[in-house]
Amino acid sequence: MNKKKIFSKICVLGLGYIGLPTAAMFASRERSVIGVDINQSTVDTVNLGQIHIVEPGLEGVVHTAVNKGFLYASNVPLAADAFLIAVPTPIQFLDGDEMLPQPNLSYIKAATQSISLVLKKGDLVVLESTSPVGTTEQVAEWLAAARPDLTFPQSHGSASDIRIAYCPERVLPGQVIRELITNDRVIGGMTNACSNLAADLYSILVEGKCHLTNAKTAEMAKLTENSCRDVQIAFANELSIICDELDINVWELISLSNRHPRVNILNPGPGVGGHCIAVDPWFIISKTPDKSPLIRAARNVNDSKPKWVINQIDKALLEFLKENPDKSMTDVIVACYGLTFKANIDDLRESPALQITIDLSYGHQGRVLVVEPNIDSLPREIPNLELVSKEKAFEMAHIHVLLVDHVEFKKQDIPVGKIVDTRGVWRNVSVSNRTR
Ligand SMILES: NC(=O)c1ccc[n+]([C@@H]2O[C@H](COP(=O)([O-])OP(=O)(O)OC[C@H]3O[C@@H](n4cnc5c(N)ncnc54)[C@H](O)[C@@H]3O)[C@@H](O)[C@H]2O)c1
Repeated sequence: MNKKKIFSKICVLGLGYIGLPTAAMFASRERSVIGVDINQSTVDTVNLGQIHIVEPGLEGVVHTAVNKGFLYASNVPLAADAFLIAVPTPIQFLDGDEMLPQPNLSYIKAATQSISLVLKKGDLVVLESTSPVGTTEQVAEWLAAARPDLTFPQSHGSASDIRIAYCPERVLPGQVIRELITNDRVIGGMTNACSNLAADLYSILVEGKCHLTNAKTAEMAKLTENSCRDVQIAFANELSIICDELDINVWELISLSNRHPRVNILNPGPGVGGHCIAVDPWFIISKTPDKSPLIRAARNVNDSKPKWVINQIDKALLEFLKENPDKSMTDVIVACYGLTFKANIDDLRESPALQITIDLSYGHQGRVLVVEPNIDSLPREIPNLELVSKEKAFEMAHIHVLLVDHVEFKKQDIPVGKIVDTRGVWRNVSVSNRTR
């Protein structure tokens, strides 16, 4: 029987939302962990036992790990038994093709090249960054080119000096510390030996099941999970637009349709944000553009939803002016409720609610109020806006635009005036015009 490898030294590249909790949790299992980041201030912060991101419970784990000497941050990788790559994989628009964003693998390439300098026989390399199919093989090629003195799985199969695997991350921000332990993992090795060694590594930490497969399937599994969500949300978003045209309450419609035992439609919203669901489907589309019309259509539906919401606001403004001929556009006060990319968080990255509010701040001649209980001040790029309490917005605004279903907005009270509700929070309003 093969003995389990101990992995006394683990090197994690990228100390962001994924890499830092991963590094800290391995360190909490009394493994010596080197956390690597190219951002010097991140390195300095972590070495002080502090953190630079918001994640409940993480600061305590990092503080203890650093104080006990199990976690050390550096701006270059050091020798280790296993290397985990958790650097960004954004999309980029190449000249001449603005309709088809391409994955940007430059961060993975740089991280791979940096570990090639310290790699030795017997080491394991695991890619955790969300990646297009074939990236793990590409990492192996980059490493082989940099280290001709070592053998790799693509040329030497199970007998290779270096083992390489892909293991996608599926944690939910806000619950990362718990989910790193309890979630099942999909582990795709370039060979069975690679998969088995990576499973040994994760068994230090993971109490969920480790499902072994090949690298391509593991890469595609992560992209499939997020594309599935994107397509389902697009269906709901499209329904909301159809229902508006046909004068049907979409929330009632979905609730009735979901009474069918095999139907489960998601709720529509103002669009899709964040840096996963709105990005990952492009990794499939860019690889197989002629074979993915449904996934591409879903991206387009979700990307176009903010513009539709802006049109709804414009319609509400015009209706208001028609009903109140004594008022001009500059008199009309609009309140936006929620700016974040999903409910009950403070993250504004790629948020459709933020995009809609910014567009409104430039387009509307009157005052625009913002209610966002999860932030203390507005981002600098939004001019002409006022951050106010929900009560003040209820009292002052003529048009109320619900963009995020934060728990604070789900209370019984509903504003009086014209309502554009993108999340169905005030769905019990029988008409969208509750007059004062
Ligand atoms: N955040 C999530 O909820 C989540 C969930 C699942 C998967 N992912 C995926 O995990 C990967 C990382 O995401 P994240 O949210 O942690 O990103 P992040 O931006 O929070 O962190 C990435 C870190 O990598 C560092 N970095 C960049 N190049 C480097 C290099 N060459 N060497 C060392 N460090 C380098 C950056 O400075 C940054 O601190 C992405 O592929 C993302 O799609 C993220």
